[in-house]
Amino acid sequence: MMNSNDLFKGIILAGGSGSRLFPSTFAISKQLIPIYDKPMIYYSLSTLMMAKIRDILIISTPDHMPIYKKLLGNGSNLGIKISYKVQEKPEGIAQAFIIGEEFISNKNVALILGDNLFYGDNFQEKLIKATSFNSGGTIFSCVVDNPQDFGVVELDNNDRILSIEEKPSSPKSNQVITGLYFYDNNVIKISKGLKPSRRGELEITDINLSYLKKDLLRLNNLGEGFVWLDTGTPNALLEASNFIMAVEKRHGFKVGCIEEIAFKNNWITREQFAKIIDIYPSNNYGLHLKNVLNKI
Ligand code: DAU
Repeated sequence: MMNSNDLFKGIILAGGSGSRLFPSTFAISKQLIPIYDKPMIYYSLSTLMMAKIRDILIISTPDHMPIYKKLLGNGSNLGIKISYKVQEKPEGIAQAFIIGEEFISNKNVALILGDNLFYGDNFQEKLIKATSFNSGGTIFSCVVDNPQDFGVVELDNNDRILSIEEKPSSPKSNQVITGLYFYDNNVIKISKGLKPSRRGELEITDINLSYLKKDLLRLNNLGEGFVWLDTGTPNALLEASNFIMAVEKRHGFKVGCIEEIAFKNNWITREQFAKIIDIYPSNNYGLHLKNVLNKI
Protein backbone atom coordinates (compact mmCIF):
# COMPACT_ATOMS: atom_id res chain seq x y z
CA MET A 1 0.00 0.00 0.00
CA MET A 2 1.20 3.46 -0.88
CA ASN A 3 2.82 5.18 2.08
CA SER A 4 1.59 8.68 1.38
CA ASN A 5 -0.78 10.29 -1.06
CA ASP A 6 0.74 13.33 -2.70
CA LEU A 7 -2.21 13.92 -5.03
CA PHE A 8 -4.51 14.91 -2.17
CA LYS A 9 -4.31 17.65 0.40
CA GLY A 10 -6.47 17.53 3.51
CA ILE A 11 -8.54 20.18 5.26
CA ILE A 12 -10.06 19.95 8.73
CA LEU A 13 -12.81 22.49 9.33
CA ALA A 14 -12.83 23.24 13.03
CA GLY A 15 -14.55 26.58 13.34
CA GLY A 16 -18.14 27.55 13.95
CA SER A 17 -19.68 28.98 17.08
CA GLY A 18 -20.49 25.70 18.83
CA SER A 19 -23.67 27.35 20.06
CA ARG A 20 -25.54 24.08 20.45
CA LEU A 21 -23.06 23.21 23.20
CA PHE A 22 -23.24 26.50 25.13
CA PRO A 23 -22.07 27.06 27.88
CA SER A 24 -19.40 24.37 27.32
CA THR A 25 -18.11 26.20 24.25
CA PHE A 26 -18.23 29.76 25.59
CA ALA A 27 -14.46 29.70 26.12
CA ILE A 28 -13.18 26.69 24.18
CA SER A 29 -13.51 25.35 20.68
CA LYS A 30 -16.02 22.55 20.24
CA GLN A 31 -13.56 20.39 18.32
CA LEU A 32 -11.15 20.43 21.29
CA ILE A 33 -13.66 18.95 23.73
CA PRO A 34 -12.52 15.44 24.63
CA ILE A 35 -14.33 12.43 23.24
CA TYR A 36 -13.43 9.93 25.97
CA ASP A 37 -9.61 10.06 26.12
CA LYS A 38 -8.53 12.49 23.40
CA PRO A 39 -9.55 15.82 21.87
CA MET A 40 -12.33 15.57 19.29
CA ILE A 41 -10.08 16.79 16.46
CA TYR A 42 -7.84 13.72 16.86
CA TYR A 43 -10.57 11.61 15.24
CA SER A 44 -10.87 13.72 12.09
CA LEU A 45 -7.09 14.14 11.86
CA SER A 46 -6.67 10.38 12.18
CA THR A 47 -9.14 9.86 9.34
CA LEU A 48 -7.05 11.99 6.97
CA MET A 49 -3.90 10.21 8.15
CA MET A 50 -5.52 6.82 7.47
CA ALA A 51 -6.19 8.11 3.94
CA LYS A 52 -2.39 8.64 3.81
CA ILE A 53 -2.78 12.38 3.44
CA ARG A 54 0.19 14.20 4.97
CA ASP A 55 -0.31 17.83 4.06
CA ILE A 56 -3.14 19.19 6.19
CA LEU A 57 -4.74 22.59 6.74
CA ILE A 58 -6.70 23.32 9.90
CA ILE A 59 -9.30 26.08 9.61
CA SER A 60 -10.71 27.58 12.79
CA THR A 61 -11.84 30.83 14.33
CA PRO A 62 -9.47 33.72 15.14
CA ASP A 63 -10.07 33.11 18.88
CA HIS A 64 -9.32 29.40 18.89
CA MET A 65 -6.44 29.21 16.44
CA PRO A 66 -3.67 29.61 19.07
CA ILE A 67 -4.91 26.55 20.97
CA TYR A 68 -4.87 24.36 17.86
CA LYS A 69 -1.33 25.50 17.16
CA LYS A 70 -0.36 24.63 20.72
CA LEU A 71 -1.97 21.20 20.46
CA LEU A 72 -0.71 20.10 17.05
CA GLY A 73 2.13 22.45 16.09
CA ASN A 74 3.47 22.07 12.57
CA GLY A 75 2.82 18.33 12.61
CA SER A 76 6.50 17.36 12.31
CA ASN A 77 6.35 15.11 15.39
CA LEU A 78 3.74 13.07 13.47
CA GLY A 79 5.68 13.14 10.21
CA ILE A 80 3.05 15.35 8.61
CA LYS A 81 2.74 19.01 7.69
CA ILE A 82 0.04 21.05 9.41
CA SER A 83 -0.76 24.61 8.47
CA TYR A 84 -3.45 26.93 9.74
CA LYS A 85 -5.87 29.46 8.32
CA VAL A 86 -8.51 31.53 10.03
CA GLN A 87 -12.17 31.66 9.06
CA GLU A 88 -13.29 35.08 10.28
CA LYS A 89 -16.98 34.15 10.40
CA PRO A 90 -18.82 30.83 9.98
CA GLU A 91 -20.01 31.59 6.47
CA GLY A 92 -20.38 28.01 5.37
CA ILE A 93 -18.56 24.71 5.04
CA ALA A 94 -17.88 25.29 1.33
CA GLN A 95 -15.91 28.43 2.22
CA ALA A 96 -13.11 26.07 3.31
CA PHE A 97 -12.08 25.69 -0.33
CA ILE A 98 -11.88 29.44 -0.85
CA ILE A 99 -9.90 29.96 2.37
CA GLY A 100 -7.76 26.99 1.39
CA GLU A 101 -7.23 27.92 -2.26
CA GLU A 102 -3.53 28.66 -1.97
CA PHE A 103 -2.97 25.62 0.23
CA ILE A 104 -4.79 23.26 -2.15
CA SER A 105 -2.86 24.71 -5.09
CA ASN A 106 -3.28 22.34 -8.05
CA LYS A 107 -4.04 19.21 -5.98
CA ASN A 108 -7.21 17.29 -5.13
CA VAL A 109 -8.59 17.82 -1.66
CA ALA A 110 -10.26 15.90 1.16
CA LEU A 111 -12.36 17.90 3.60
CA ILE A 112 -13.45 16.57 6.97
CA LEU A 113 -15.55 18.36 9.57
CA GLY A 114 -13.68 18.45 12.87
CA ASP A 115 -16.71 17.17 14.76
CA ASN A 116 -17.25 14.00 12.72
CA LEU A 117 -16.15 10.62 14.00
CA PHE A 118 -16.01 7.45 11.91
CA TYR A 119 -15.49 3.90 13.09
CA GLY A 120 -16.09 0.68 11.20
CA ASP A 121 -14.97 -2.19 9.02
CA ASN A 122 -12.70 -1.57 6.06
CA PHE A 123 -12.70 2.17 6.67
CA GLN A 124 -9.12 2.58 5.53
CA GLU A 125 -9.85 0.70 2.30
CA LYS A 126 -12.78 3.01 1.62
CA LEU A 127 -10.60 6.05 2.26
CA ILE A 128 -7.81 4.84 0.01
CA LYS A 129 -10.33 4.10 -2.72
CA ALA A 130 -11.74 7.63 -2.44
CA THR A 131 -8.24 9.03 -2.97
CA SER A 132 -7.68 6.90 -6.05
CA PHE A 133 -9.90 9.08 -8.24
CA ASN A 134 -8.36 12.05 -9.95
CA SER A 135 -11.60 13.66 -11.07
CA GLY A 136 -15.05 14.25 -9.64
CA GLY A 137 -16.11 13.91 -6.03
CA THR A 138 -16.65 11.14 -3.51
CA ILE A 139 -19.00 11.44 -0.54
CA PHE A 140 -20.04 8.99 2.17
CA SER A 141 -23.51 8.29 3.48
CA CYS A 142 -25.07 6.61 6.48
CA VAL A 143 -28.60 5.75 7.58
CA VAL A 144 -29.84 7.72 10.61
CA ASP A 145 -33.16 8.27 12.36
CA ASN A 146 -32.99 12.09 12.26
CA PRO A 147 -32.30 12.78 8.56
CA GLN A 148 -33.89 16.22 8.73
CA ASP A 149 -30.74 17.45 10.58
CA PHE A 150 -28.37 16.64 7.70
CA GLY A 151 -27.83 16.61 3.97
CA VAL A 152 -30.25 13.93 2.74
CA VAL A 153 -29.64 11.80 -0.34
CA GLU A 154 -32.36 10.04 -2.31
CA LEU A 155 -31.44 7.03 -4.46
CA ASP A 156 -33.24 5.10 -7.18
CA ASN A 157 -33.41 1.29 -7.32
CA ASN A 158 -29.99 1.16 -8.95
CA ASP A 159 -28.41 3.26 -6.19
CA ARG A 160 -28.08 6.26 -8.46
CA ILE A 161 -28.50 9.63 -6.76
CA LEU A 162 -31.85 11.27 -7.52
CA SER A 163 -31.59 14.24 -5.19
CA ILE A 164 -29.58 15.81 -2.37
CA GLU A 165 -31.32 18.21 -0.01
CA GLU A 166 -29.85 20.15 2.90
CA LYS A 167 -31.89 19.71 6.09
CA PRO A 168 -35.24 19.16 4.35
CA SER A 169 -38.36 19.39 6.51
CA SER A 170 -39.74 16.28 4.77
CA PRO A 171 -36.72 14.05 4.09
CA LYS A 172 -37.07 11.74 1.09
CA SER A 173 -34.98 9.05 2.79
CA ASN A 174 -33.06 8.21 5.99
CA GLN A 175 -29.75 8.25 4.18
CA VAL A 176 -27.61 11.26 4.98
CA ILE A 177 -24.29 12.64 3.84
CA THR A 178 -21.46 12.56 6.38
CA GLY A 179 -18.89 15.29 6.92
CA LEU A 180 -16.14 13.74 4.81
CA TYR A 181 -15.72 14.84 1.20
CA PHE A 182 -13.15 14.13 -1.52
CA TYR A 183 -13.02 16.44 -4.55
CA ASP A 184 -10.86 17.19 -7.54
CA ASN A 185 -9.28 20.62 -7.97
CA ASN A 186 -12.40 22.06 -9.64
CA VAL A 187 -13.93 22.40 -6.19
CA ILE A 188 -12.14 25.73 -5.79
CA LYS A 189 -13.80 27.16 -8.87
CA ILE A 190 -17.16 25.69 -7.91
CA SER A 191 -17.08 27.15 -4.39
CA LYS A 192 -16.11 30.56 -5.73
CA GLY A 193 -19.21 30.51 -7.92
CA LEU A 194 -21.61 29.66 -5.07
CA LYS A 195 -24.21 32.07 -3.75
CA PRO A 196 -24.97 32.07 0.00
CA SER A 197 -28.06 30.04 0.90
CA ARG A 198 -31.10 31.35 2.75
CA ARG A 199 -29.25 30.82 6.04
CA GLY A 200 -26.41 32.93 4.62
CA GLU A 201 -23.88 30.10 4.16
CA LEU A 202 -21.91 28.65 1.26
CA GLU A 203 -23.39 25.16 1.36
CA ILE A 204 -21.41 21.97 0.88
CA THR A 205 -24.63 20.49 -0.49
CA ASP A 206 -24.45 22.96 -3.40
CA ILE A 207 -20.95 21.70 -4.21
CA ASN A 208 -22.23 18.12 -4.23
CA LEU A 209 -25.14 19.14 -6.46
CA SER A 210 -22.73 20.77 -8.88
CA TYR A 211 -20.73 17.51 -9.20
CA LEU A 212 -23.97 15.52 -9.40
CA LYS A 213 -25.23 17.63 -12.29
CA LYS A 214 -22.10 16.75 -14.26
CA ASP A 215 -22.51 13.08 -13.27
CA LEU A 216 -19.21 13.29 -11.42
CA LEU A 217 -20.35 12.45 -7.89
CA ARG A 218 -19.65 9.04 -6.36
CA LEU A 219 -21.57 7.99 -3.26
CA ASN A 220 -20.17 5.42 -0.87
CA ASN A 221 -22.72 4.03 1.58
CA LEU A 222 -20.85 3.19 4.78
CA GLY A 223 -23.39 0.46 5.41
CA GLU A 224 -24.96 -1.22 8.40
CA GLY A 225 -22.62 -1.81 11.27
CA PHE A 226 -20.57 1.24 10.48
CA VAL A 227 -20.58 3.90 13.16
CA TRP A 228 -20.66 7.57 12.21
CA LEU A 229 -21.07 10.00 15.05
CA ASP A 230 -21.82 13.66 14.85
CA THR A 231 -20.99 15.35 18.13
CA GLY A 232 -23.21 18.39 17.94
CA THR A 233 -25.20 18.18 21.19
CA PRO A 234 -24.41 17.34 24.83
CA ASN A 235 -26.19 13.97 24.46
CA ALA A 236 -24.33 13.13 21.27
CA LEU A 237 -21.03 14.04 22.96
CA LEU A 238 -21.65 11.74 25.90
CA GLU A 239 -22.83 8.93 23.64
CA ALA A 240 -19.70 9.29 21.51
CA SER A 241 -17.47 9.17 24.61
CA ASN A 242 -19.26 6.10 25.95
CA PHE A 243 -19.02 4.40 22.58
CA ILE A 244 -15.28 5.02 22.23
CA MET A 245 -14.66 3.89 25.81
CA ALA A 246 -16.60 0.67 25.24
CA VAL A 247 -14.78 -0.14 21.99
CA GLU A 248 -11.34 0.69 23.35
CA LYS A 249 -11.78 -1.20 26.63
CA ARG A 250 -13.31 -4.26 25.03
CA HIS A 251 -10.83 -4.65 22.20
CA GLY A 252 -7.72 -3.14 23.73
CA PHE A 253 -7.01 -0.79 20.86
CA LYS A 254 -7.48 2.89 20.32
CA VAL A 255 -9.64 4.79 17.86
CA GLY A 256 -8.19 8.03 16.52
CA CYS A 257 -4.70 7.55 17.96
CA ILE A 258 -2.73 9.87 15.70
CA GLU A 259 0.71 8.96 17.10
CA GLU A 260 0.11 5.25 16.50
CA ILE A 261 -1.06 5.88 12.93
CA ALA A 262 1.98 8.06 12.21
CA PHE A 263 4.27 5.27 13.46
CA LYS A 264 2.45 2.49 11.60
CA ASN A 265 2.47 4.59 8.41
CA ASN A 266 6.26 4.76 8.81
CA TRP A 267 6.06 8.54 8.93
CA ILE A 268 8.10 8.65 12.14
CA THR A 269 10.98 6.51 13.32
CA ARG A 270 11.01 4.31 16.44
CA GLU A 271 13.15 6.95 18.12
CA GLN A 272 10.68 9.72 17.32
CA PHE A 273 7.80 7.56 18.53
CA ALA A 274 9.64 6.74 21.77
CA LYS A 275 10.23 10.44 22.31
CA ILE A 276 6.50 11.13 22.07
CA ILE A 277 5.83 8.38 24.62
CA ASP A 278 8.34 9.93 27.04
CA ILE A 279 6.00 12.88 27.56
CA TYR A 280 3.23 10.66 28.92
CA PRO A 281 2.91 9.56 32.50
CA SER A 282 1.76 5.96 32.96
CA ASN A 283 -1.76 6.81 31.98
CA ASN A 284 -3.90 4.66 29.75
CA TYR A 285 -3.02 6.59 26.56
CA GLY A 286 0.71 6.48 27.28
CA LEU A 287 0.60 2.77 28.15
CA HIS A 288 -1.19 2.08 24.88
CA LEU A 289 1.53 3.89 22.90
CA LYS A 290 4.19 1.91 24.81
CA ASN A 291 2.43 -1.35 23.90
CA VAL A 292 2.39 -0.37 20.24
CA LEU A 293 6.12 0.36 20.36
CA ASN A 294 6.92 -2.95 22.05
CA LYS A 295 4.84 -4.99 19.60
CA ILE A 296 6.43 -3.65 16.41
O1 DAU B 1 -22.12 16.34 9.76
C1 DAU B 1 -22.59 16.17 8.45
C2 DAU B 1 -23.46 17.33 8.00
O2 DAU B 1 -22.64 18.52 8.11
C3 DAU B 1 -23.98 17.17 6.58
O3 DAU B 1 -24.93 16.12 6.51
C4 DAU B 1 -24.65 18.44 6.07
O4 DAU B 1 -24.98 18.31 4.73
C5 DAU B 1 -23.71 19.63 6.25
O5 DAU B 1 -24.33 20.85 5.88
C6 DAU B 1 -23.26 19.74 7.71
O6 DAU B 1 -24.40 20.02 8.50
P1 DAU B 1 -24.27 20.61 9.99
O7 DAU B 1 -25.57 21.16 10.40
O8 DAU B 1 -23.66 19.59 10.87
O9 DAU B 1 -23.26 21.76 9.78
P2 DAU B 1 -22.76 22.78 10.84
O10 DAU B 1 -23.19 24.12 10.44
O11 DAU B 1 -23.13 22.31 12.23
O12 DAU B 1 -21.20 22.69 10.70
C7 DAU B 1 -20.49 21.49 10.84
C8 DAU B 1 -19.15 21.75 11.50
O13 DAU B 1 -18.36 22.61 10.69
C9 DAU B 1 -19.28 22.43 12.85
O14 DAU B 1 -18.53 21.70 13.79
C10 DAU B 1 -18.71 23.78 12.71
C11 DAU B 1 -17.91 23.73 11.43
N1 DAU B 1 -18.13 24.94 10.64
C12 DAU B 1 -19.37 25.17 10.11
C13 DAU B 1 -19.60 26.28 9.32
C14 DAU B 1 -20.95 26.51 8.72
C15 DAU B 1 -17.11 25.83 10.42
O15 DAU B 1 -15.99 25.62 10.93
N2 DAU B 1 -17.34 26.95 9.67
C16 DAU B 1 -18.54 27.21 9.09
O16 DAU B 1 -18.68 28.24 8.40
